Amino acid sequence: MKFAKALASATILAACTFGSASAAELVVGFSQIGSESGWRAAETTLTKQQAEQRGIDLKFADAQQKQENQIKAIRSFIAQGVNAILVAPVVATGWDEVLQEAKDAEIPVILLDRTVDASDDLYLTAVTSDLVHEGNVAGKWLADTVAGKPCNVVELQGTTGSSPAIDRKKGFEQALSGHDNLKIIRSQTGDFTRTKGKEVMESFLKAEGGGKNICALYAHNDDMAVGAIQAIKEAGLKPGTDILVVSIDAVPDIFQAMAAGEANATVELTPNMAGPAFDALAAYLKDKKAPAKWIQTESKLYTQADDPMKVYEEKKGLGY
Ligand code: AHR
Repeated sequence: MKFAKALASATILAACTFGSASAAELVVGFSQIGSESGWRAAETTLTKQQAEQRGIDLKFADAQQKQENQIKAIRSFIAQGVNAILVAPVVATGWDEVLQEAKDAEIPVILLDRTVDASDDLYLTAVTSDLVHEGNVAGKWLADTVAGKPCNVVELQGTTGSSPAIDRKKGFEQALSGHDNLKIIRSQTGDFTRTKGKEVMESFLKAEGGGKNICALYAHNDDMAVGAIQAIKEAGLKPGTDILVVSIDAVPDIFQAMAAGEANATVELTPNMAGPAFDALAAYLKDKKAPAKWIQTESKLYTQADDPMKVYEEKKGLGY
C-alpha cells in the first residue's frame, strides 16, 4: 500500500495529536518558495500557526526562490524521516525524481498553492485554487468593465515557469478571446514582486507613449500591481482611472489602493492552504483513505464596490 510506512508510524501519533495539543508530535517538513509577496508571507505565517494549533512539529525551509534549494530541503526531510512533506513548488517542471524519492521512502507529499507537471501518483493531494479560473475571472471583469470600448492591456506575469504564471495567463486570454476590442500589447514577467512590477511597468509606460496608449493593467498578483501603481503615478497618470488595474491575491494593500481609487479589482486567493492540507493529512493517516487529488480553494472577485477599507481591516487579522 502507498505510503504504508508513514501510515504505520504516524497513525498512532496522529490519533492522539491532531486537533489537540499532545506530547506525541507529528513531524512535517515544509519547503516554502521564499517571501516574494505579501500573500506568500501570509501563507508562511498561517502554515506555522495551523501546525502549532494541531501540535505538529513543522520543519520550515525557505528556498529563496530556487528549485534546487527546494529539492535539497525535500531530500533532507526524507533523510530526517518526517511523517509528511508540504511543498509550494516554485516552478511546474523538474519534480519527478525527488517526488519519487519521497514516495519510495513512503512519505506523503502535499502540494500547496501551485501545481507540478508530474504524475499525480507522486503526491498525496494538491491544495490550490483553480489558477486558470482566476485569470478568467480577471479577464471577464475587464471585458465587462470596458463594455466593448477599445482597450490596450499590459500584463505583468508571475515567475516564469510557475503554474500560476502559466495558468493565470491562459485563463485571462481565454476570457479575452472573442472581445476584439481588448488587446494585450505587452506582457512580461515581474516575478511576483513589487520591485519588479514597478520596474517592468515603467518600461511599459516608456514604450507606450508615457502610458497614453495603455487602457488597463492585468497583474498576476497584487504585489506587482502595487509596484505598477506607483510607476503609473510617477508617470503622471491616475491608476484606476487612466489605467484600470486588475490583479490576483486580495492582500490588504490592494484594498487600500482600491479605497483610494487606484486599483479596480482583485481575485482572492486564500493564504490558508495549510489548514485544508493538514485536515486531509489527518484524515488520511486516520482512515488510510487517500483524499481527492485536488482540494480546490475559492476564487472570489472583489471590486471597489465591496467596501475596500472594511475588507482591508478584516484581512489584516488573517495572517497578513
Ligand atoms: O502561488 C501563488 C502565488 O505566489 C501568489 O498569487 C503570489 O502572490 C505568490 O507569489
